Amino acid sequence: MEAANITVALTGASGAILGREMLRALEADDRVARVHFVASENSLRVIAEELGLSGRNNLLEKLLDGTPTKTVQHSDTDIGAAIASGSYPSDGMIVLPCSMGTLAAIAHGLANSLIARAADVTLKERRPLLLCVRETPFNRIHLRNMALAAEAGAVIFPVIPAFYNRPIDSAEMARQFVFRVLAHIGLPQPGAYVWKPDE
Ligand SMILES: Cc1cc2nc3c(=O)[nH]c(=O)nc-3n(C[C@H](O)[C@H](O)[C@H](O)COP(=O)(O)O)c2cc1C
Repeated sequence: MEAANITVALTGASGAILGREMLRALEADDRVARVHFVASENSLRVIAEELGLSGRNNLLEKLLDGTPTKTVQHSDTDIGAAIASGSYPSDGMIVLPCSMGTLAAIAHGLANSLIARAADVTLKERRPLLLCVRETPFNRIHLRNMALAAEAGAVIFPVIPAFYNRPIDSAEMARQFVFRVLAHIGLPQPGAYVWKPDE
């Protein structure tokens, strides 16, 4: 993938650390030219609970622990942002973590927020859409919505970390999960654990 242009959405499911690791990995990746970042209103509460980062001011800088060089943030209410149009040449979208509410909005084509609209556009343009859903257990509505989204072309990429790489802490677990997501969209990362790489 050349000079990739990726959209990353954080929603109000548990796993804000995964969104943070994703944004950091993409900022550090020379193959990536532009990252469009959208945080749902409800993700702010989870970010505060799980990462101890409160307030919407300078959220991106706080998540990256520095000044962004290629990442731009949009309000989830800004349905006029570039990524709301299929004419904008995006290479794909990752929703990480993806709440059951956002999954439902995407599965039913509501397009009533920038996240839901950008996902809708990603599907209609047949571009990669990865929904990193997180909930447990699933009810039948969640399962049906996952099937609907998958039938429309989304990849359901549940937040289920691996254990066979023996992660030493939650940060390493999050990083390795993010590396798997990025490998899936053609951005394999140095440091990604590979099972029996020499076989
Ligand atoms: C600490 C915390 C953890 C949550 N974890 C989840 C979760 O894992 N999955 C989920 O679907 N919703 C979870 N929720 C509920 C969502 O935030 C809530 O349904 C919200 O309306 C989702 O909105 P959004 O999709 O616009 O971000 C959590 C809420 C809080 C406060």
